[in-house]
Amino acid sequence: MNVLLLGSGGREHAFARALSSSIGISKLYIAPGNAGTNECGQNIQLNPLDFDAVIKFCIDNDISLLIPGNEDPLVHGIVDFIEAKNIEFSTSIKVAGPNQYCAQLEGSKDFAKAFMIRHNIPTAAYKTFDHQNISEAGDFFSQLQPPYVLKADGLAAGKGVIITSDLAEAQKILNEMILGGMFGDASKSVVIEEFLPGIEISVFAIGDGNSYRILASAKDYKRIFDNDKGPNTGGMGAISPVPFADEAFMLKVENEIIRPTFEGLKSEGNPFKGFLFLGLMNVDGQPKVIEYNVRMGDPETEAIFPRLKTDMLEMLDGIATGNISELDLEIDSRTAATIFLVSGGYPGDIEKGKKITLPNDSMIGSNQYIFHAGTALKDGELFTNGGRVIAVTSLNGDIPSALNDSNKLASEINFDGKFNRKDIGLDLLNYGKN
Ligand code: AMP
Ligand code: GLY
Repeated sequence: MNVLLLGSGGREHAFARALSSSIGISKLYIAPGNAGTNECGQNIQLNPLDFDAVIKFCIDNDISLLIPGNEDPLVHGIVDFIEAKNIEFSTSIKVAGPNQYCAQLEGSKDFAKAFMIRHNIPTAAYKTFDHQNISEAGDFFSQLQPPYVLKADGLAAGKGVIITSDLAEAQKILNEMILGGMFGDASKSVVIEEFLPGIEISVFAIGDGNSYRILASAKDYKRIFDNDKGPNTGGMGAISPVPFADEAFMLKVENEIIRPTFEGLKSEGNPFKGFLFLGLMNVDGQPKVIEYNVRMGDPETEAIFPRLKTDMLEMLDGIATGNISELDLEIDSRTAATIFLVSGGYPGDIEKGKKITLPNDSMIGSNQYIFHAGTALKDGELFTNGGRVIAVTSLNGDIPSALNDSNKLASEINFDGKFNRKDIGLDLLNYGKN
């Protein structure tokens, strides 16, 4: 089977690596990909948001399965587009991703919140404001305890959430978001919500339109500096599984959140196909939804996929064809520790084009993985090409040993300005012990 994967991050390298060893794969294309994905298949110059170009490529290259890695094509309706073209051109291109209705869970915070209320899914209390009712926001703020959480309704490249304890500042930010176009159209509507105290955790599940399966839990580390200091990034590392997500906690997640989400979408006439990413807050043992995403996480994928023993193509094809209930889903019980190496200055301005040196293969353990993100090849040499450059993952018996392995391997990768967090996973070691 020929497969087209859309995206260019560490997540897509993790997809591509797993796909490249799938038995049923004939040709794997990645658009646009990075230096790592090109070793697993063939990178192609194609804009994932140019749907006409995507369908043309699929037809010309006999693609049977399309995998959107990130949210943009999904939120813009690539699944509905391909389904319509399949009828127009009598093709049968399958897509492992949700339709545009379901993708609103990620594309619109207001949609996600209203969905959760409709289906009784635990989440923070909220109200949505726009230019018409902005004058009522003061009343709502006065019902909340600080800190105040303000979320741009639409996609804002992970930057659309602002939290402040200062009421005057919250009012000012609300005005800037709605009236000042702080995040463009994405902040024309703003969700204000109750602050949830606790520790964050992500849980990943797959759906095929008929049933769902739970993949794994993971915790990512969003701030640039140790101890969660500094600005938010795309993610500086991840641990999977999360020790506090024990059987009892995961049962609550499944019964109160995952099942009602899949059933809720089905009851609204839009069964979910694809990856469901639940961003949760563990509030004294009670999971509550902070956000939905409709794709895998980055860097959580780089931690979870090395644990997955199931054939990747079989899983993705099962998602697209409604066949995951019979899937032999096998997850390694060991811990994965992923550390991202980033360019100096990230998430602010960075310089690209720094030469990267990698350890030779003999230094990479059989349970270790190097995933490329912002990398590019030039004349056979590897250079940095983005903020997040390379993710290193190790599997081992517990968090300290997996971290130790990843730190060692990370120290063998070098480029000018290389930076990585030194405290990934350490918060989990003592969590719940005092
Ligand atoms: P989001 O983009 O919705 O994941 O929000 C970004 C970050 O803001 C989350 O990872 C949380 O750390 C934080 N956050 C979002 N919503 C809340 C909330 N209701 N209570 C506490 N923290 C929140
Ligand atoms: N790691 C967070 C995300 O992928 O959105």
